[in-house]
Amino acid sequence: MSQLRRAVFRTATLIEPLVRPVGPLLPPAHLRIYYYGTWSPARFDRACRDITAELMTRGLRPEHRVLDVGCGIGNVAIGLLDYLRGGYDGIDVHSGAVDWCRRSITTRHPAFRFHRANLTSGAYNPDGSAEASTYRFPFDDGVFDFVLLASVFTHMEPASLEQYLREIARLLAPGGVCVASYFLLNEQTRRGVQEGRSFMSFDVPHPSGTCLLHDAGRPESAIAFDEDYVRQVHERAGLTISHVRRGGWWTGVPHEQDVLTVVRRI
Ligand SMILES: C[S@@+](CC[C@H](N)C(=O)[O-])C[C@H]1O[C@@H](n2cnc3c(N)ncnc32)[C@H](O)[C@@H]1O
Repeated sequence: MSQLRRAVFRTATLIEPLVRPVGPLLPPAHLRIYYYGTWSPARFDRACRDITAELMTRGLRPEHRVLDVGCGIGNVAIGLLDYLRGGYDGIDVHSGAVDWCRRSITTRHPAFRFHRANLTSGAYNPDGSAEASTYRFPFDDGVFDFVLLASVFTHMEPASLEQYLREIARLLAPGGVCVASYFLLNEQTRRGVQEGRSFMSFDVPHPSGTCLLHDAGRPESAIAFDEDYVRQVHERAGLTISHVRRGGWWTGVPHEQDVLTVVRRI
């Protein structure tokens, strides 16, 4: 992010308390603008509610232990505060987001914990000290019932996707569920992208041949994966895809991603 944009976003955080009351579980305006493009509290509320509702339709129960990979500014945690009893761990590469979540959420709700993974991400943590493609999550085998990645695999390159799916298979209890969003390329969506109907362009082939990038200079800014490749990686990791909700991203609907529900084989 440029210095100027950063300064403008920070100014919004300074001004906001003069304009409206800012509750302790509302992330600062500069982080909300960075994540959701607006400082409107209603937009953040919607981010908390929508994903929570989606997880419940995918089988989340109050006694489940949840891992939220790429937890950002805590929208899932906040959405689940009154529902979840089994415990929540969020992990992210972005220190500003994790610091806020720890300070504001964990101090009030200790069963909701946040962890920083200092991994390189061109988009979110360019100065990271390790690679996602070799990362081992700091949790024991089989301890999670539910793993979520909302808009995270849309920012990760193939070697990292493969490592994360191996790790998710290790971390999930047998029969545990992972819900993850993607831009999936198949015959239909590829046509939409080629015809310029997608909400953003994906015209840079990745050297692996498994995905298309939005920006050659910053590969992790947005990535669309070949669907057959994604299916093969799940198969190799011991994960079964049980449901695909198709999104309209390739028809021009902003950010409406494809969502895979996946079960760890017993
Ligand atoms: C588009 S944001 C989505 C945030 C949140 N899940 C949501 O839906 O609002 C992508 C998030 O993934 C995080 N991220 C990017 N690469 C990651 C990685 N390798 N491991 C964990 N988190 C990552 C970013 O820091 C950012 O918080």
